[in-house]
Amino acid sequence: MDKIKAKFETKIGPAVKEVKDFLAQYGDEKLGEYTVEQVYGGMRSMTALICETSKLDSEEGIRFRGYSIPELQEKLPKMPGQKQPLPEGIFHLLLMDELPNDDDVRRLSNNWARRSIVPPHVFKTIDALPMSSHPMTQFVVGIMALRTESEFQRAYRHGINKKDYWDPTYEDSMNLIARLPRIAAYIYRRVYRNGEHIEPDPKLDWAGNFAHMLGFEGDEFKELMRLYLTIHSDHEGGNVSAHTVHLVGSALSDAYLSFAAGMNGLAGPLHGLANQEVIRWTLAMRDELGGGLPSKEQIANYCRKTLNEGRVIPGFGHAVLRKTDPRYIAQREFALEYMPHDELFLIISRVYEVVPEILSSMGKVKNPWPNVDAHSGQLLMHYGLNEYDFYTVLFGVSRALGVLSGLIWDRALGMPLERPGSTTTALLKEKFEKK
Ligand SMILES: CC(C)(COP(=O)(O)OP(=O)(O)OC[C@H]1O[C@@H](n2cnc3c(N)ncnc32)[C@H](O)[C@@H]1OP(=O)(O)O)[C@@H](O)C(=O)NCCC(=O)NCCS
Repeated sequence: MDKIKAKFETKIGPAVKEVKDFLAQYGDEKLGEYTVEQVYGGMRSMTALICETSKLDSEEGIRFRGYSIPELQEKLPKMPGQKQPLPEGIFHLLLMDELPNDDDVRRLSNNWARRSIVPPHVFKTIDALPMSSHPMTQFVVGIMALRTESEFQRAYRHGINKKDYWDPTYEDSMNLIARLPRIAAYIYRRVYRNGEHIEPDPKLDWAGNFAHMLGFEGDEFKELMRLYLTIHSDHEGGNVSAHTVHLVGSALSDAYLSFAAGMNGLAGPLHGLANQEVIRWTLAMRDELGGGLPSKEQIANYCRKTLNEGRVIPGFGHAVLRKTDPRYIAQREFALEYMPHDELFLIISRVYEVVPEILSSMGKVKNPWPNVDAHSGQLLMHYGLNEYDFYTVLFGVSRALGVLSGLIWDRALGMPLERPGSTTTALLKEKFEKK
């Protein structure tokens, strides 16, 4: 058994006991009450899920196993002489509930490099799609094609004991994480670089190798990838992608099925696709206003026009957050350090100065502040990754770290099939109108 897996196995027994003891003592306690409006309103603010890997505070933002983004930037291992955390480190933290040291991170890099070979049929399956298929479609198809490799599927067919479900789920998750950058880079090079593919370099770290396979060799871009892949990894359990992975996984669908399902959710414009929409919207505004840096007044007018057309301003608002997203701030700090005079950065900054007031004045938007997606595209464009239809694939590669560590824990803790109740409007009316 590999050392990472052996270390994870030592965590399972105590965690299972902790949950069992807690449930024995507090299982009958009430967590809260909810209203009819919440049931119709997408279950906002109803605590109904367990997600051990991260927790979102509406005011403070995300904490990964208790650590904020600035704390991670300080405490997680980095490449020698560099500043950004290695995504291997956040995966270790999320999975093990323990900050990694340099050896832990190096071991993960090597482990993923060893697992990273993608079978040829996956590329052939992607190649069967028209070039015009959205990159997220190609990504999901690639993940599904890779399902031939599922160890959970094989083990289940052979009658695996339920106590051991975590083991092939761990194998599937590790293999998927190791192979996703290759699949993502393949799609990028296929669609945008005439199919001129770049072989992986197993000596590089996971994010550095991803940048290399995409065709971006500069150190700054590699640092950006490390930051990007760390901060997009997890956002507690109720967002569409994380919840979907957990839900589909609760049917004992393997990691490939569950992760592909989550990626279909990430591909929605109110979720991960918002990062592409931000750039599309910002460039359309710049073009319509004649290029250059628009004034605050011009931006405000353009925002009002968007809202009057019944559209949302992408990159602003959040279902849980009520402050500027710390993931936005981390990216803004990166831009301030590496590209303070970039024109698109100046536009994004000016949009930040204008939009919250406009959204607040509508009186209904609960959070007028920018979220993670309001900034990521600008950083990518600065380095020449201009093909914004691809951006959600990058988000998806990162999200794998969080949702798959969550899935491994779901199986380790023996989480049951998710099956909430539902009702009808007629039944609810009958219930309340009788009163
Ligand atoms: C993220 C989002 C889906 C959260 O939705 P939510 O929890 O329903 O948000 P709210 O409770 O604040 O929504 C209340 C109203 O304000 C609107 N609103 C919220 N954010 C808005 C925005 N950025 N632009 C315009 N209107 C917005 C909602 O559409 C809703 O309108 P409705 O009552 O007419 O349906 C929403 O803010 C949004 O659409 N943002 C833009 C897309 C985006 O950036 N997504 C990425 C999220 S990380």
